[in-house]
Amino acid sequence: MRVTATTDAPPATDADTVAVGIFEDEGVPHDHGGVLQALVDSGEAKRAFRKLALTHAEGKRYLVVGLGGRSDFDPERARVAAATVAGRLSELGTKTLCWEVPHHVTDAHAGALVEGTVIASYAYREFKKNDENDGIEVLILSAHHDASAPVAYAATVAEAVNAARDLQNRPANVLTPSALAERAQALPGVTVEVLDRAGLEAAGMGAFAAVARGSDEEPRLITIRYEPPDVAGPLLGFVGKAVTFDSGGISIKPAAKMHEMKFDMSGGAAVVESVGAIAALGLPVRVAGIVGATENMPSGHSVKPGDIVRAKTGVTIEVNNTDAEGRMVLADCLAHAIDIGAERLVDLATLTGAMVVALGSTYAGLYSNDDDWAREVVAAGDRTGEIVWRMPLHPEYAKAIEGRYGDIVNSPADRGAGSATAAEFLKRFVGDVPWAHLDIAGTAYDLGRPYASKGGAGWGVRLLVELARGEPAAPDLH
Ligand code: BES
Ligand code: ZN
Ligand code: ZN
Repeated sequence: MRVTATTDAPPATDADTVAVGIFEDEGVPHDHGGVLQALVDSGEAKRAFRKLALTHAEGKRYLVVGLGGRSDFDPERARVAAATVAGRLSELGTKTLCWEVPHHVTDAHAGALVEGTVIASYAYREFKKNDENDGIEVLILSAHHDASAPVAYAATVAEAVNAARDLQNRPANVLTPSALAERAQALPGVTVEVLDRAGLEAAGMGAFAAVARGSDEEPRLITIRYEPPDVAGPLLGFVGKAVTFDSGGISIKPAAKMHEMKFDMSGGAAVVESVGAIAALGLPVRVAGIVGATENMPSGHSVKPGDIVRAKTGVTIEVNNTDAEGRMVLADCLAHAIDIGAERLVDLATLTGAMVVALGSTYAGLYSNDDDWAREVVAAGDRTGEIVWRMPLHPEYAKAIEGRYGDIVNSPADRGAGSATAAEFLKRFVGDVPWAHLDIAGTAYDLGRPYASKGGAGWGVRLLVELARGEPAAPDLH
């Protein structure tokens, strides 16, 4: 989709469809030949949030969408309003859409209209006989002021979200660890290093290598660096779990939902595409993306319950459940991130079913060893609508992973607080580097938001890019 900004009024654009939002207690933004006011007066167009009405004027279709109260209209509502409009476009046959940006909103709202439209218009059709997405080709944002910079920024980020969704939705026989590494290597503006199975073993990454043992697919440790010259500041380490298929291994999962475990690489997809977007935007930050990619499979080579392996840091792990594999992959990836100099860490992982039970798909769970860093991550989540809820670490949870034959176990005997004990496991590998762990098991796919309902959601791309962007300036009201 081509996305542009203009200061022309919508009728002056070559859009075939115009989207206009109306707030409660306010008039129609401006006169489009009087038909919109008439539509409101007739009661057909409603101001309540997400209500839609259609009319024609000046040779164009007009979609009038209720925006609800102005004071409730945050960027997340703008995304949802844009998705509501986007949901009607294919039945209308729209090819070029012009969104009239409401007056007196911020650049963040204009960007959110772009995100909502681009993300809602996504369809994964790679393996369909008709693989064409019959969605819109051009999106024009019409505003009184020049909104081209925030519009272009949002378009880049939204395309990265959709790229992450392509990676997620691709089946595990196609999106293998090596295919994920190839995608990282194709990103412009970054340098990429890749370790294979032999490389992992040689580097002493016995936890990661143990997970990979059961599969005939080669694992990949992918390190993506974006370090623009003349940029100082801490090296951000974004770490992603990319288990391209989690069968559970010898501790095999039930058949019913096993196919969903192609999505167990969602954290890695978000890391790959967010670093790609940060490079495309040329943000003045230093980032290393570290992605642990492997399958988790049962075979004669598999790691077995009871096996003891040694992680890169020297810690020994009793593998009492081969399905608690994500934390083993991440243990070595986090240690690697610190080894290459990361000074702030964020990891994203579809780590525990317990997280889904605790927070559903509304919030991702955040665990952190550093209050300031946690606050930054929460704030970036609030600004993007990828909201996170801080969860507790506690010495009692840490006790649950103490080992009997090794230093720690990968799966506590007691199933209580499963997402917290998983976080305590990871904490053993980050030392005192500020670290935030996001358990995205509930948000990575089938998110249920109007702009990303089914399949891969690309969750985390927008939050990571926002975290890299840092504190925003005070918003301009236009
Ligand atoms: N990938 C799963 C977690 C998961 C479950 C993600 C459901 C998305 C939806 C993870 O590797 C896993 O299997 N975790 C186990 C850990 C347990 C054995 C300690 C779990 O959550 O049951
Ligand atoms: Zn598992
Ligand atoms: Zn897993």
